[in-house]
Amino acid sequence: MSKQDLNGGTSGPAAGEKGGERFSSLGFIMSAIGSAIGLGNLWKFPYITGIYGGAAFVLLFIICLVIVGMPVLLAEMAIGRAGRGNASTSFLNLSGSKRWSFFGFLGVFGSFMITSFYSVIAGWTLHYALSSFTGALYKGTDYAAQFQTFTSGYSPIAWQFLILGLSGWVIARGVSGGIEKFNKVLIPALAVVLLILMARALTLPGAGAGIEFFLKPDFSKLTGESTLVALGQAFFSMSIGMGVMITYGSYVQKEQSLGKATVAVTGGNLLYALIAGLIVFPTTFSFGLEPAQGPGLVFVVLPAAFSSMPLGAAFGGLFFILLAIAAFTSILSLLEVPVAFAMDRWKWSRLKATSWTTAVCFIVGVPSALSVGGVLSDFKIGGKTVFDSLDFVTSNILLPIGGLVVTLFIAYASKRAMEEAGLKGTLLRVWVFLLRIVIPPLIVLIFLYSVGIIS
Ligand code: PHE
Repeated sequence: MSKQDLNGGTSGPAAGEKGGERFSSLGFIMSAIGSAIGLGNLWKFPYITGIYGGAAFVLLFIICLVIVGMPVLLAEMAIGRAGRGNASTSFLNLSGSKRWSFFGFLGVFGSFMITSFYSVIAGWTLHYALSSFTGALYKGTDYAAQFQTFTSGYSPIAWQFLILGLSGWVIARGVSGGIEKFNKVLIPALAVVLLILMARALTLPGAGAGIEFFLKPDFSKLTGESTLVALGQAFFSMSIGMGVMITYGSYVQKEQSLGKATVAVTGGNLLYALIAGLIVFPTTFSFGLEPAQGPGLVFVVLPAAFSSMPLGAAFGGLFFILLAIAAFTSILSLLEVPVAFAMDRWKWSRLKATSWTTAVCFIVGVPSALSVGGVLSDFKIGGKTVFDSLDFVTSNILLPIGGLVVTLFIAYASKRAMEEAGLKGTLLRVWVFLLRIVIPPLIVLIFLYSVGIIS
């Protein structure tokens, strides 16, 4: 063990009533994995892999996870546990400087905004699950048109309301009585559903072509653009840059190893993404469909495959339930960021903070729900729909800034947070080297690229 007992230091100011809330050790791992695994893995990862060249892209993604994702994830958890506050006050508690906490506040804002449009897609998955189980989804054969009809109506708002309401209900029950309790059940359940679907996909006739597309690297397809997309995806899928892991980290007990948690969360996140690929591509190829389809991949392409598969309605329903659960556990973590902030900042009760955050988030999210083919689809901000603008601003601007702030803070401004990570020897040196030298320029690069300053 280290000469210096890292666990014996002051635990920082415990803020308000939230100071007492803690995860159990398994509960934290499950909740952090639940946050990481989401639409990013199951919906976005397959389709960007389809666009950016299959297996070579998967390899790039893994490299980005190791070089950037893991170090920043550990940094966020350490800041949270050392600062013992929400995504903004943790910085203040550790540095005493308002400037850092302002940047932390961007994460609070960002999480809130992500929830507002992320819950739209989460709502779609609930609708698709239901209509697959009932068979309504397979009445027609033009799935693109069905998707269009559904998203252009008003019912997505109701589904969004439902998923946000459920999330609020869980969060209001607290960290151990709500968030952790649900994650401990839902994440293993997710694994079971995933494995069933993977077994089905891998045994379809002609599945081999899909496996090959997904797992055999063709490096000629790699471009600068795919590298940056892989890096951005590493951020989004690990839930870093938005203060989520700072907030969750503030509930972690002193005895828990953050290094091990980092490995578990990264490994779990990658595993679920790979399995998602092993469901989507074999299924897509087996039915002679096109993998490079973009966001509609799972909503347009997969129903076509499920419709011509024995017991397809059940498998399709399971698949969409899987997406819904994954999205739900991510929303729990996203909403907790502003909820924790409101509790700290205004000394609100958990119930009050949750009710307000969820309600306002729903209202802010309605325009997003109506902008994908609905009445607001022609309303553009800088050439983008409301949904796309929010996605763009949060994923491409707020997320890299958040990641950069975390990296610089721990690398240069807070020895205390650095020690909190509990690394020693070579691991510590490698981590600090990555945080100081490698990661900041990479983040600046994704940022400049994604806002179009370099191409
Ligand atoms: N990691 C989640 C996903 O892959 C999304 C997310 C982003 C959650 C940022 C929290 C914070 O879908």
